Amino acid sequence: MAGGHRYQLQEALSLDPPTTTHRKTHTSLRIQISESYTPRHQKLDFVAEDLRLREIPRLRNVIAGHYFIHSQSDARRHACMNHINTLLAHAALTPDQETSALIPPIHLATTYERERDNSYPRGYQYARDGNPTRHLLENTLTSLESGFACCTFASGMATCHSILQALKPNAHIIIPEDVYHGLRVLVFDENASIGLRVSTVDMTSVDEVEAALTEETQLIWVETPSNPLLQISDIRAISKIATRAGATLVVDGTWTTPILQRPFELGADLVIHSLTKYMAGHSDVLGGAVVAREESELFHNISRLQQRVGAVMDPFSCWLTLRGLRTLAVRLRAQCDNAEAVAAFLRDQPRIHAVYYPGLEAHPGHDVARAQMKRFGAMVSFEIDGSEQDAIAVAANVRVFRRATSLGGTESLIEHRSSMEGRDTSTSPTLLRLSLGLEYPDDLIHDLAQALENI
Ligand SMILES: Cc1ncc(COP(=O)(O)O)c(C=O)c1O
Repeated sequence: MAGGHRYQLQEALSLDPPTTTHRKTHTSLRIQISESYTPRHQKLDFVAEDLRLREIPRLRNVIAGHYFIHSQSDARRHACMNHINTLLAHAALTPDQETSALIPPIHLATTYERERDNSYPRGYQYARDGNPTRHLLENTLTSLESGFACCTFASGMATCHSILQALKPNAHIIIPEDVYHGLRVLVFDENASIGLRVSTVDMTSVDEVEAALTEETQLIWVETPSNPLLQISDIRAISKIATRAGATLVVDGTWTTPILQRPFELGADLVIHSLTKYMAGHSDVLGGAVVAREESELFHNISRLQQRVGAVMDPFSCWLTLRGLRTLAVRLRAQCDNAEAVAAFLRDQPRIHAVYYPGLEAHPGHDVARAQMKRFGAMVSFEIDGSEQDAIAVAANVRVFRRATSLGGTESLIEHRSSMEGRDTSTSPTLLRLSLGLEYPDDLIHDLAQALENI
C-alpha cells in the first residue's frame, strides 16, 4: 500500500464539510490503513468516530470510492455528488496522473515488476490476484451500493457459485422456489461439489422462510422481483429473520440495480449482480459482482476464492461495464417508463389472462414493492389466454421486439421462458417474458398489438 494513498485519503476527509454534523466527524477522524491488504481490500480502521462515520452514507461513498480521488479538488467534487445519478454519470472518471485523460485506460498486463527492495510498489503482482481496471469497477460498484468491498467474476453465475463455495461445509441454505433458473440448476444438478442442503420456499411468505430455518442455515437467498413471475419478497422482514438466525442474507439485485433498490439499507449482507444485464446494459458483456455491506468471514472466503481460482472478469469487460454504468440512470428511467406503458396496455388485452408487473396495483406484492423499490423495474411477464403454441406464435409474430433471452439491453426482448428453461421448468407454457428497452413506447405497444391479433 503506497504511502501516497494514505495521504490522499486524509486529504479527502479533511474537506470543508457541508453540514455541522459532518464537520464534527471530519475533524476528529483518524485513519489507519492495514498494510497487509491488497489495494482493493484496504482495511480502513476508524480509530475514532467509527460509528458516527458509518452513519453518513455519502462520506462512506467518498471512502469506498477513494480510488477516484487523486487530489483535493477531486475529493471536493466527489463530496458534492449527492445523488446516485451524478455518481453514475462520473463513474470511474479518474484523470490519469500522467496524461490527464479523463476516461481510464484498460490495463491488460498480467504481471508486474518488483522494486529493487523486492516489493511490489503499487500492490499489484499478477492479474489473477488483482488488476487495476477490475479494481476500478469493484470500487465503483462498492461506492454505488454504499458497501464495504466488491469482487467481480466472469459471469453472474460464477459469482453465485463462488458465494456458495465459500460457505462452511454442510451448509443449509434457503432459496426461493421461483429462483433464477440458472441458480436452481446449480444448487440441484451441480451440488455434488458444493455439498449444500437446500430448502426452497415461497419467498413472498416470511412465515415460510422462518419455518425453513435450521441450526445449520448459513444463507438466505432473495431475488425480488423474481424471475419470471415478478413476485416480491419483503427484504427488511427477511433480514430480521436472517439476523436472528445468524444467517447471511444475499439479495440478487440484477433486475433492480442500485438505482431502484438499496438492499443494504433494508438489512441485506451481500448484494449480487449479473453485470451482463442493466449495469453493462448493451448485451455485449458477461460479468457478475458481489458487494459486501461489511467485512465478514464469508466475504473474505469469496475474495480468496476469486484470487485463487481466477474466475475473474476480464479487463475489457470491466471497462465496458464502467462505460455502461455512466448511462445507467437515463437508460433505466426510459426502460421503466416503457415497462409501465406496456404493462398497462397488456392488462386490458382480451387474449391475455395474467400480467405480472409489480407496478400494477392488482399485483399482490405492489405495496411491498412500493415501499422498497424506487420504481417497479423494466421486466414484464404475461400469460396468453390460449395454448403454448399461441404463446410461441406471439413471440414469432413480433417485429420490433427481438426474440432472445437475457435482459437489460437497449433493445426490447421477448422470450417464451419455459422453452429456455427446458424440461425441469416450473414456468407456465403460456408465459412470455419481456425485457423493455429504449424504443419509443408506441412502437412496442403496436408491435405487441399486431402480434396478439395474429394468433
Ligand atoms: C436474476 C439473475 N441472476 C443471475 C443471473 C446470471 O447471470 P449471468 O448470465 O451473467 O451468469 C441472471 C441471468 O439471467 C439473472 O437474471
